[in-house]
Amino acid sequence: MSIRFDGRVAIVTGAGNGLGKSHALALAARGAKLVVNDPGGAVDGSGRAQAAADTVVAEIVKAGGQAVASYDSVAEPASATKIVAKAIEAFGRLDILINNAGILRDKSFGKMDTAEWDAVLKVHLMGSAYVTRAAWPYLQEAKYGRIVMTTSAAGLFGNFGQANYGAAKLGLVGLMNALKIEGLKYGILVNTVAPLAGTRMTENIVPPAFFAKLKPEHVTPAVLYMASEACKESGWIVSAGPGFYARVRMMEGPGAAFDPKTVVSPEALAERWGEVGNLKEAVGFETATDEIARIFLRLGS
Ligand code: NAI
Repeated sequence: MSIRFDGRVAIVTGAGNGLGKSHALALAARGAKLVVNDPGGAVDGSGRAQAAADTVVAEIVKAGGQAVASYDSVAEPASATKIVAKAIEAFGRLDILINNAGILRDKSFGKMDTAEWDAVLKVHLMGSAYVTRAAWPYLQEAKYGRIVMTTSAAGLFGNFGQANYGAAKLGLVGLMNALKIEGLKYGILVNTVAPLAGTRMTENIVPPAFFAKLKPEHVTPAVLYMASEACKESGWIVSAGPGFYARVRMMEGPGAAFDPKTVVSPEALAERWGEVGNLKEAVGFETATDEIARIFLRLGS
């Protein structure tokens, strides 16, 4: 099986550096026409530099591919809309959206001000929602689409100093969970990558011995597969790093069951708290309805 993107048009947000750059170059090398989106700037989102997107566009074109630059921020609805407009203007269609743009404003929660909170939520969560919202009608109309969100272990599992980032990153999973259901009848599949890569964002976090081994190129195959026609799944979260790719999922344990006709006391619940926390034989659910059905079934009619 050969994964190709000939005739497909892709947007990669935050494609001027790190992971986004790697995704954009690889998509273009396999035939996709690219919108390389990046306003440029520092890891904390300050400043602007068109060179970030321009350099990647030049690299794609030099290698014989097709790409245009977009310098608009994902973080405002109007500019996010312009990113999608760029794809339509330049190439007349849109098939693939990789929501990758990101910034960091790390601080322990007690010291974090609202500006630091808002800036991170705006780029990661609102930004991905705004660009996806602008792309949605084109994908619906075409009855085809592949969207990849970018989450993080910090959101899935927790990390010190990243309350803003973790909340935004897990918010993206919630966004995906709704869109995987709403997109299905239009052939729009929405999946999420949880990367680990040595980039400017992680250079002060990852131990130097590991940094060089964590090439963004190791994450890109997971993104490319989820962006391809070959992918038939929707709603997957895939952890991706050098030589390791694994699905991550929300799970629910077998739980502690009581007579639903009587209200249980907190003391009675406390006695069986171990059962509540037991995750052996935990199961995942495709939708909220499936999970709720488990409770309804126990209630009877
Ligand atoms: P990076 O800093 O190299 O790349 C992020 C890019 O997003 C930059 O080029 C930046 O200019 C761009 N960007 C920032 N604000 C933007 C905005 N408002 N609109 C459009 N573009 C904007 O960092 P890296 O590591 O490549 O991160 C890419 C994504 O992967 C981010 O969403 C990050 O949170 C996520 N991630 C990265 C991990 C890693 O190990 N590197 C781990 C988990 C998640």
